[in-house]
Amino acid sequence: MRTMKTLCLLACIVASVCAAPNQKQMSNQELKPSKWLTSHELESTPGLDEMSLERLENMSVDKGAKLLRKLYHVAHIDDELRPSFVPSASNIPVAIMKPNGQKIETKLNNLVSKAKELPEFGDDEVTIFITGLPQTSPTITKATKKLVKAYMQRYNLQQQQKDSQQPRNKDNEYSSSEETSDEWKSAKTNSGDLVIIDLGATLTNFKRYALLDIEETGDMLGKVLVRLADEADVPHEIIHIVAQGIASHVAGAAGNQFTQQTGHKLRRITALDPSKILAKHENTLTGLARGDAEFVDAIHTSAYGMGTTIRVGDVDFYPNGPSDGVPGAENVVEAAMRATRYYAESVRPGNERNFPAVPANSLKQYKQNNGFGKRTYMGIDVDYDLEGDYILQVDAKCPFGQRATAKKQTSYHGMHQA
Ligand SMILES: *[C@@H]1O[C@H](CO)[C@@H](O)[C@H](O)[C@H]1NC(C)=O
Repeated sequence: MRTMKTLCLLACIVASVCAAPNQKQMSNQELKPSKWLTSHELESTPGLDEMSLERLENMSVDKGAKLLRKLYHVAHIDDELRPSFVPSASNIPVAIMKPNGQKIETKLNNLVSKAKELPEFGDDEVTIFITGLPQTSPTITKATKKLVKAYMQRYNLQQQQKDSQQPRNKDNEYSSSEETSDEWKSAKTNSGDLVIIDLGATLTNFKRYALLDIEETGDMLGKVLVRLADEADVPHEIIHIVAQGIASHVAGAAGNQFTQQTGHKLRRITALDPSKILAKHENTLTGLARGDAEFVDAIHTSAYGMGTTIRVGDVDFYPNGPSDGVPGAENVVEAAMRATRYYAESVRPGNERNFPAVPANSLKQYKQNNGFGKRTYMGIDVDYDLEGDYILQVDAKCPFGQRATAKKQTSYHGMHQA
């Protein structure tokens, strides 16, 4: 859509203005990174070898975002940064979470045979969560844990509701003061299986992250999903991939591969802050896009930082509008992880409607046009029949959703105006 193109262009121009303050007028000719980055800045842009997540986590959101934009532009100056890293399936850790909270740990090459050993696997829905960064910092680990825990709560809810009729079990591993409200007791959920594919574990340094071959890795994963459907009798209609950052694009390529081989589409792909893509094959379109599953949704929380402003789905959510990072995040890595936190919050039974959103092109427009267009909910309960860009406001601290807007929209906005 035109809006998003404009946003991307804007991002470029913003980057260029920061880089070359004297260069006010830009013709298309001049929109080449080599023109807008001064030679000093080109020289001071770190090489991939010098980059690390830790470095990004040590920087403020705007500094980290600026650095990533520079890297991105430098990578695209001559369009010759080619992907070169493909993890082997036997190196990608996988965990199948059983309803009782037990974990079956294996590697991606053995996922299908392990799933076949579980008689009830694939009877309800199957959620495949793919990590996009190594679990190297508390921010990343926490986001991943929250998501896994939320799904475990969701998928075991019926059992928990039954248990709650009986005297409360003190050791109930699913309850914590932060995460229990009374609403879950009456919430309706599906049961299902959660599979965690820890792709992030193979991205042991920034270079691997930057040079990950999205297409090849996605093809490999797609083939595993085809076998899962064929050999473990998991219908494609119940497969939902939830993927972080760069893994969103891998999920897109996997969905594509699945469709090529079977003629069917996966049910849904949810992208949690889909990343910028640094390395691309020549003359190849790459990255998650609408059509890679029946329904594709995305939550962009670091659009100008780790993430991308480019729309990747049927529905793209921009909490607080496209930005370097969402409120409360202290660095770009944390901002990127917020997408996982928001989504996890919506997965927790009773919280499905914590993130009401409306179609808009900017936060300003969202605030001025109180509730135009069709409202939907960011997260697990999004309407599958929508498309477009959606904006909402989020809080800086957990719980992040401002669910009140759903109930008391007018007075809410009334209160916050001026
Ligand atoms: C990040 O900050 C920590 C604590 O100040 C420091 O020990 C570490 O060396 C820094 N790492 C990088 C890559 O700058």
